[in-house]
Amino acid sequence: MSYDLIVKGGTVVSASDTFVADLGVVNGKVAAVGKLDAEAKTLVDARGKVVIPGGIDAHTHFDMPFMGATTIDDFTSGSTAAVFGGTTTVVDFAIQQRGKTFRHALDEWHRKADGKTAVDYGFHMIVVDFPEEQEAEMDKLVDEGVTSFKLFMAYPGIFMSDDATIYRALARTKDNGGTVCMHAENGSVIDVLVKKALAAGRISPEWHALTRPMTLEAEATHRAIALAEVAGVPIYFVHLSAGDAMDEVRAARERGLPVYAETCPQYLYLSHEDYKRPGFEGAKFVMSPPLRPEGNSARLWAGLKRNDLQVVSTDHCSFCMKAGKNKPGKELGRKSFAQIPNGAPGVEYRLLLLWDAVQRGVISENRFVEITATAPAKLFGLYPRKGHLNPGADADIVILDPNQRHTFTRQNHHSAADYNPYEGVTVKGAIRDVFVRGAAQVLGGRWTGRTTHGRFLKRAPRAA
Ligand code: URP
Ligand code: ZN
Ligand code: ZN
Repeated sequence: MSYDLIVKGGTVVSASDTFVADLGVVNGKVAAVGKLDAEAKTLVDARGKVVIPGGIDAHTHFDMPFMGATTIDDFTSGSTAAVFGGTTTVVDFAIQQRGKTFRHALDEWHRKADGKTAVDYGFHMIVVDFPEEQEAEMDKLVDEGVTSFKLFMAYPGIFMSDDATIYRALARTKDNGGTVCMHAENGSVIDVLVKKALAAGRISPEWHALTRPMTLEAEATHRAIALAEVAGVPIYFVHLSAGDAMDEVRAARERGLPVYAETCPQYLYLSHEDYKRPGFEGAKFVMSPPLRPEGNSARLWAGLKRNDLQVVSTDHCSFCMKAGKNKPGKELGRKSFAQIPNGAPGVEYRLLLLWDAVQRGVISENRFVEITATAPAKLFGLYPRKGHLNPGADADIVILDPNQRHTFTRQNHHSAADYNPYEGVTVKGAIRDVFVRGAAQVLGGRWTGRTTHGRFLKRAPRAA
């Protein structure tokens, strides 16, 4: 047997096991795992290194218009940042426009991504307008491999759906096998708090967080779980930030309900204190839900260990602080925190931030693989093609050097964002090599690939 690529002697980590082995790759797929004494066109020495399945980031916003701005990372820069961070698959959010079909949005997102993406990619659909006539179109999208639909309980007048609409969308997934992804914050009440704060002259970034209390995330989470229970379908919570919201998820799961949730590194590593940075610096961390008070992240870490939370995605939604490339930035909100475009970059930092938690003994290396690759692959219809390195899987392979250190800084990241939320933070571990379907995109920490290599992924519907 002759292989295209052999990755030799690395410590292979899966969601369940850790063992030393060689990986043999043929035609972009893992063909063998074990001791391989065979020919290969390319041989990569991974001795003393950690070999993991490429990360799957189930939550990115590349080239997304939002709040008067557009995210600074398009599919090329965003996916390049993903590769350097060891992520080989993203699931990005297409946005339906009010009064337009899902098809219209999907075509637009295909145009944004096709031939311009370094990693494989799928799409979720953001549901903005869902009259009854739209329901059948949801089934068609599922058939085309766009199997998840994000609805918002926040952002009234922009994205927010009422409970009846949410219930109808959930109920429709019972037969079509789609999954509803929920942004759970009580947007109506937040709006009142925002107006009150602004009327009192509270305009600084910190007020973004002070007007979005944890209780309003927990309330919306509870309500959405109730709607999913009545509809008799699973539900997935995106960017869960509050320990109180996680408690709602845990209580539902303890009752046997198919409720799932992701959190994001920013809620594990940053806190409300970051809004108190001098001047307008706090705007870097304006996102929804907001960063939570110190102490909250310990609850999320405990939840990750207990499997109350199943996935860590990034919600990569990068805006510059200053306007650039003809795109307005966070400065839009200098006179009102409510005008600061919500979101922050993250796709490049996720794996190393979480690997650092492995090094510190907070989570096991197997749990690390599960929450960054295997679980998102299973929940979003990408398994068994992606999310593991057994024979038959796509050869999305990351070789991580556990003995090197990496310092996060704007100077070395590959996002087009003009700041790094983790500026100056050093972690133990560095991404050395990254293969997407067997193609070397990064070798020795240097770009060797093509930004056109990524392919659209038709995802499978949920198993009944
Ligand atoms: O602040 C955030 N999270 N921006 C992106 C949009 C969303 O709600 O995911
Ligand atoms: Zn959201
Ligand atoms: Zn998001």
